[in-house]
Amino acid sequence: MMQLDARQRAMLAEMGIRVWGPEYPAGEPDDALPGPPRGEEAAVMAAPVAVTRPATGPQTPAVVPVTPRALPADIAGMDWDALQQAVASCQACGLCRSRKNTVFGVGDRQARWLVVGEAPGENEDLQGEPFVGQAGQLLDNMLKAVGLSRQGSGAEAVYIANVLKCRPPANRNPQPEEVLQCEPYLRRQVALLQPQIILALGRFAAQTLLQHTVPDVATIPLGKLRGQVHRYEGVPVIVSYHPAYLLRTPQDKAKAWIDLCVAQAVLRGETAP
Ligand code: URA
Repeated sequence: MMQLDARQRAMLAEMGIRVWGPEYPAGEPDDALPGPPRGEEAAVMAAPVAVTRPATGPQTPAVVPVTPRALPADIAGMDWDALQQAVASCQACGLCRSRKNTVFGVGDRQARWLVVGEAPGENEDLQGEPFVGQAGQLLDNMLKAVGLSRQGSGAEAVYIANVLKCRPPANRNPQPEEVLQCEPYLRRQVALLQPQIILALGRFAAQTLLQHTVPDVATIPLGKLRGQVHRYEGVPVIVSYHPAYLLRTPQDKAKAWIDLCVAQAVLRGETAP
């Protein structure tokens, strides 16, 4: 059973997750879990974590119809600084015309955790850093609940990046062509970081990361991609809800907490990847 200290409980409270468990008098063990899982949550917790393997048959085009292609040679050879510079000067799609800043990523470049979001919003575009708005505050609190921080190093380290490095105007959805152009940057970030676990937040991150391994991923509801260990470039991927969705749907925060716990278990080798 997962041990939660007072700080983690406080962070869960920040996430809006009520911690359930016996009320221990001072000095008693602190092993409460977030709310008793029911229904789908209980099924996710009880079910063995499934493992997806790369599909061997023909691929059906997804909503993000990205044709597998080799990473352009110049990107494949880039180190972190060269890659960041390449993103900063990228003009591969129309988003370069409306962006104020590119949003490369933040965190320790030796982190074991990689969190992948969708695309910068207005605040991120202004500040050049991912997840700095309201959704970002929730993400930070979720990460703190499992002992991670974008400023952290060592066991506390996490790297946060988006599928798109530039803001889609008016926060519209990413277009397939934009994802096609930008995904090689994320792929190179993964190659450089060599994370041990990837947390994919929301359907664009999930569809982009799983497009070559989960047939018809675009037709699968996000909830059905949860509770399984997927793969991107050989790295285990756990799918979860986007923090912006969780702000609108706080009743699903407990499921996001379960996803974090599953990711933590995979990282610790407690779940066969
Ligand atoms: N939503 C995202 O997916 N990424 C951000 O950086 C901010 C909001």
